[in-house]
Amino acid sequence: MSDKIEPHLFVILGALGDLAKRKLFPSVYNLSASEQFGENHIILGVDVDVTLNDESYRAGIQGVLEEAGLTVDTDQVSYWCECRLHYQSLGSGSGTDFQGLAARIREIEQEHGLPGNRLFYLALPSDAVPDAVKGLGEADLNSSPGWTRLVVEKPFGWDMVSAQELNAGIHRYFDESQIYRIDHYLGKETVQNLLVFRFANAFVEHLWNREHIESVQITVAESLGIESRAQSYERAGAVRDMIQNHLTQLLCLVAMEVPSAFKAGSIRHEKLKVLGQIEPIHPDDVVLGQYSGYQQEDRVSAQSNTPTFAALKLQIASWRWKGVPFYLRTGKHLPLRCSQIVVAFERAPVSIFHPSESEDNVKPNLLIITLQPEEGIDFHIQVKSIGDPISLTTQQLSFHYADAFGKLPDAYEHLILDIVIGDQTLFVCDSQIEASWRLYEHLCGNPSIPVQSYEPGTWGPEEMNLLGPTWYNPSP
Ligand code: BG6
Repeated sequence: MSDKIEPHLFVILGALGDLAKRKLFPSVYNLSASEQFGENHIILGVDVDVTLNDESYRAGIQGVLEEAGLTVDTDQVSYWCECRLHYQSLGSGSGTDFQGLAARIREIEQEHGLPGNRLFYLALPSDAVPDAVKGLGEADLNSSPGWTRLVVEKPFGWDMVSAQELNAGIHRYFDESQIYRIDHYLGKETVQNLLVFRFANAFVEHLWNREHIESVQITVAESLGIESRAQSYERAGAVRDMIQNHLTQLLCLVAMEVPSAFKAGSIRHEKLKVLGQIEPIHPDDVVLGQYSGYQQEDRVSAQSNTPTFAALKLQIASWRWKGVPFYLRTGKHLPLRCSQIVVAFERAPVSIFHPSESEDNVKPNLLIITLQPEEGIDFHIQVKSIGDPISLTTQQLSFHYADAFGKLPDAYEHLILDIVIGDQTLFVCDSQIEASWRLYEHLCGNPSIPVQSYEPGTWGPEEMNLLGPTWYNPSP
């Protein structure tokens, strides 16, 4: 990428929070080492703590960066913090506090000779977002002498109504072209490579349809449980937390038509078309699960019905996909952490090698796109084993990112760079959010879908097999 980064002020609201420490600071630190990012960016951490000042905040962030193992050179980190970091308390978040923030921003811009390009990253709990947007807007921080961009993290509402309210609240002050809604799955290298695979390799297009594809499975498996997130997870559950956003975004990239350009507008348009073509999902096509032991987790209700697992089948009513089942599956405490898209191609109609075998024994070719932990693409083909009589076995044609390119940047690095450049291609727009809630909101808290128990370390409740497919479980 060659676009030059313009000098800017990166304002993080929620600068003492987990997201800021785990993802934002390490990413910005790494980015700032690149030539493209250059010198002219300053970071202003904003949070409620009134006891902190620039100096004490810098010391804290220096510790965060060192802990993240980003550098062994403590002088270098310390110099970086000294030159780039400031802190401003937002106190109780009153109108006056936001006016104070606006004044501080102008002061810092003057001090560093910045032209007024501003990025506001809301690294805040979701219920704090509307007030923060209002505070920024009322303090006239929604516009500036340069560009102003607003970054919002998921969840984007809890259902259709709350998502519409949230969008309306943000649009009161910010234009859609200023808003960057982050779905961090879209920053993963292989997710973007999926588009390259599909649209830069002409042969793929000929096979990418109902004539040649039997089914598509998207699995995002996590080996961990909910860790310390009980409070937000209890309210969310697997459909809201993962399916409505991450897995649906992946589905859109698999299913969409060729966009007219690799540009935000064209890609958003194609994704929206897919969302509009997905047929209503029947509750019978959904299996929910909860790992045993969930109700005993800290701060979880002993009667909790929150699903930690969801698997579902859906259909897309388009010329390309009609009749091809798409299966989405995600869960916590599954056997391993792995995100995969498995495209199963139609089987050979007749087995000339084993004529007596039933059709079901003929294996499909599988295209397996692994997003994590080891990004890459594997294509399963049938080959002949050595010797007679002839017998077939499955082997893989493989491309693995790490082998070809070494270590990959974190998804946040990629997304932050795009925000600073002003490229909305990998960000989710308001209409996609609403279209996606239209698909799933009736499945959340629906009493006609029982929540089945499953043992941690298994692939989820047995009932998921009733949805029809042979599930392709990732192997270690
Ligand atoms: C988040 C979910 O959006 O994604 C978490 O809220 C989940 O529940 C996480 O653990 C998974 O992200 P990744 O990148 O680790 O697969």
